[in-house]
Amino acid sequence: MDLRLLIILILCLSLSNTYSEQELIDFDKRVKKTILDNFEYVCELKYDGISISLVYEEGKLIKALTRGDGVKGDNVLENVKTIKSIPLELVGNYPKKIEMRGEIFLTISGFNHLNEIRSKEGLELYANPRNTASGSLKLLNSSIVAKRPLDCFLYFMLGEGLPSDNHYDNLQIAKSFGFKVPNEIKKFSSISGVISFVNFWDIQRNKLPYEIDGIVIKINELSVQEKLGFTAKSPRWAISYKFKAEQALSTLLDVKYQVGRTGAITPVAVLEPVNLAGTTVKRASLHNEDQINKLDLRINDRVFIEKGGEIIPKIVSVDYKFRDIFSVPINYIKNCPKCNSILVRNDGDAKHYCLNQVLCPVQIQTRFEHFISKKAMNVEGFGPETISLLLKNKKIAKISDLYNLNFLDLIPFKKDGNKWAENILNGLEKSKNISFEKVLFSLGIRHVGETVSLKLCKYYKTIDNLISAKYDDLIDVNEIGDRIAVSIIDFFSLKDNILLIEELKNHGLNFTYNNSNTKSHLLKDMNIVISGKFDDYSRDQLKKIIDENDGKNISSISKKTTFVLGGQNIGPSKLKKTQDLNIKILTIKDFFNLLK
Ligand code: IVH
Repeated sequence: MDLRLLIILILCLSLSNTYSEQELIDFDKRVKKTILDNFEYVCELKYDGISISLVYEEGKLIKALTRGDGVKGDNVLENVKTIKSIPLELVGNYPKKIEMRGEIFLTISGFNHLNEIRSKEGLELYANPRNTASGSLKLLNSSIVAKRPLDCFLYFMLGEGLPSDNHYDNLQIAKSFGFKVPNEIKKFSSISGVISFVNFWDIQRNKLPYEIDGIVIKINELSVQEKLGFTAKSPRWAISYKFKAEQALSTLLDVKYQVGRTGAITPVAVLEPVNLAGTTVKRASLHNEDQINKLDLRINDRVFIEKGGEIIPKIVSVDYKFRDIFSVPINYIKNCPKCNSILVRNDGDAKHYCLNQVLCPVQIQTRFEHFISKKAMNVEGFGPETISLLLKNKKIAKISDLYNLNFLDLIPFKKDGNKWAENILNGLEKSKNISFEKVLFSLGIRHVGETVSLKLCKYYKTIDNLISAKYDDLIDVNEIGDRIAVSIIDFFSLKDNILLIEELKNHGLNFTYNNSNTKSHLLKDMNIVISGKFDDYSRDQLKKIIDENDGKNISSISKKTTFVLGGQNIGPSKLKKTQDLNIKILTIKDFFNLLK
């Protein structure tokens, strides 16, 4: 098969999954129907990370693609170059052109270390090593990626003139080119050997320094692989055995309710401590009232817990055999556990909310904590304890009070308070240089996270434009939906919030967007809709180009649309709309001509 075609095929394919010994035996039978000669199986661990394709020409790394949307991967070469276990130049007797496929991941200790740093800095913790590795690869700044302890195992070699005619030896030889290939790879001449390997690692996987979610079984001989070929979705010469998520049995002792910064209530199960996948678990998330009702949960129930993708495990089921016949369903709280105000659950919302934003002590404290945090105003010298100290002593009540603090307010709180007070005041002064998108994020508007904040700032340019935006206008901004629009309108409909912004403005905080990425103003005041598929550009790349040239990317075609940047397969309803409204469709070529 043509090498390019093979590479595309492999890049798009995933493995078919099995979950039982029987399915492995069936796989073996299927293979033996076509292959009458002897062959071997190679068993490898299924590393739980992000797949990567590394292309080398004349020994030099020239391309690194993630699988992306399954058709075309994102090129993450610059970020991949920061990973120490990926050679930039090969050594030894390598083929002229090869592609190596592998998995980029974080070790468990690397992941824990990152979270320890985040916890010290008061930042939200990462959920799991896999998502963190994936997020890291997508970062725009490679110097930040370099600080993440990413690692890479290689599991497949592709190309013409490969060193060996079998997969196992190719992987061993790959080590001599400079790649990292783990030693936990074994060859077997029968499926029973494969099954014993699978069972061994199902028990031993907790002892590995990285996470795996199964075993990959491949046929060793490349000639046999070629004979078996591919189905539409996966190779017929490989299969993956997925481990069942580990479960543990515990007892539900209590349900506690946490109040978040925006007033959202999260129920948390307090459990009898139990060991799960190497860690002691004492709490499990319950998400919301519906989840509790769905499980028909009761205090003292025996519950099965499982580790999902989140940091804290979840309750997956109840062992009803052990239920106390006198137990009663859990009564979800009606009032805020911190301020006692009545909780509200809106239609379409899964969560209950405490609406007492102004007086609920947890919301006040966490609002301040959010405001000063690294990702927000990044006020150095401040921490949660200082906030609570100042709140208790009535030195601050609303966010803008922070900027009224002076030396004399602060020094009485510490024995040698001079340096401490100076740090705080310097930190606050420095925060006045923070960009508009961070200031907006700092305000803690429900559903306005970092990404949404940046989108709003790019679109509206100033806080006054945003304050006066109507619902219809807001939902026209790309990726801003009903939930976010309603939340923004609600926020700015409160007099206190408008007053807060006025005060922050007077203290000199930034409320105007300054796009440091702007390369030109060629698309200034243009509202551009992207539609259809493009061969050489991802949507994100096109959005970036629009942004760099001062244009606005909007989601739907309306009278406001300046033009549609059209690729292949624009939907018929969109085409009709452009005709009805007499809106031009520019091809990618027209678009780039416009930017010349
Ligand atoms: S072989 C033709 N080997 O599992 C596909 N994949 O669905 C060849 N993975 O996301 C894949 N460890 O990145 C192979 N030892 C291993 C693997 C492995 C993890 C991932 C792979 C892909 C998924 C396959």
